Amino acid sequence: MKKELIKFYNDVYKESPKEAIFTPGRVNIIGEHIDYNGGKVFPMAISLGIYGAYTFNDTKVVRAVSKGFNKEPIIFDLDNLKGLDDFTKYIRGVIYILNKHGYKEVLNDGFDIALISTLPASSGLSSSAALELLILHVLNNHYKLGISNLDLVLYAQEAEREYVGVNCGIMDQFAIGMAKDNDAILLDTNTIKYEYIKLNLKSKLYIINTNKPRNLSDSKYNERRSECESALSILQKHYKKDALCSYTIDELESVKSELTDEEYRRSRHAISENVRVYEAIKAINDGDEKRLGKLLNESHASLKSDYEVTGLELDTICETLQKSPIVLGARMTGAGFGGCAIALICGNNQLEIDKLFSDLSLVYKEKTGLTLSYYEASPSVIKKL
Ligand code: GLA
Repeated sequence: MKKELIKFYNDVYKESPKEAIFTPGRVNIIGEHIDYNGGKVFPMAISLGIYGAYTFNDTKVVRAVSKGFNKEPIIFDLDNLKGLDDFTKYIRGVIYILNKHGYKEVLNDGFDIALISTLPASSGLSSSAALELLILHVLNNHYKLGISNLDLVLYAQEAEREYVGVNCGIMDQFAIGMAKDNDAILLDTNTIKYEYIKLNLKSKLYIINTNKPRNLSDSKYNERRSECESALSILQKHYKKDALCSYTIDELESVKSELTDEEYRRSRHAISENVRVYEAIKAINDGDEKRLGKLLNESHASLKSDYEVTGLELDTICETLQKSPIVLGARMTGAGFGGCAIALICGNNQLEIDKLFSDLSLVYKEKTGLTLSYYEASPSVIKKL
């Protein structure tokens, strides 16, 4: 990929880049829609990601090109970060946040950058967080800002919230920015305490892309968040706990009559999903992959009926896979409303796995009119190329 990236840069800017970097995307194994409810999440950075080649250019101008999106670079000035709703909003967003944190005088040198993403667009595998962290690493290294990896993660999240306008949790940026040694990360979003966990699975983890354009996903995401916030404020009239995931199902039941049906079901998902994360870690530690698979199925069912973020495409994929004897479990991953699912598949017989996916593709095409794609998920980290 490095060769292809350098050639792409050369074709656009007619010279060779000075440096190159890779940032991964992520899957979330379990713990969905609870990173903004103080829950535990269990994501892993993956080998699909964004490759960027760049050179600082001694001007105030940034030029950015992304293969498959634009042929001519999109140009903006470091002193004017306003712009259109194109992919450079993630670049402008992190520069905006660095300015806000006092780096404006330092960031006085623009750059030319060429990007190639192996993350399918709008697939819910965190291409936006990958791009934000890529740019933050480029700037942190170039200007020797000395910002810690954790602060880079927080800045990326701030850019997403304040500049891009998605009120996201911390999971995606954390999974990418703190990825280490090809491990998954168990992150307590209430305390930001985390632990690296080796998966060492006998079964294989696959990613299945619905290829459904994720229209309206941002507004639905923000809507779910505010439903959880209003449920929490009602619970807090009775119990003094600061996060929805800290409550028990019994406590939730005790205030049911004060909650709308939506607030009740969103909370039931958040509380039960957090418990499933604990159980999933236990299953992994016990080497009990069947149990892990079952928890993935339960997570999907809860996201479907209580949290209502799945939809025909993700349900068709997961529920069809769940019926196969070689599938231990399947669930949507990420924000939902399209995007990707993951499946834990046992067995080393690749022919059998390919047959599983070709049968699934037929069912999926018939029910949705769409064509799915699938990839084996392998772990990764941020690297200089
Ligand atoms: C998106 C957000 C994350 C998280 C997931 C759902 O990926 O960016 O913060 O909330 O959805 O788990």
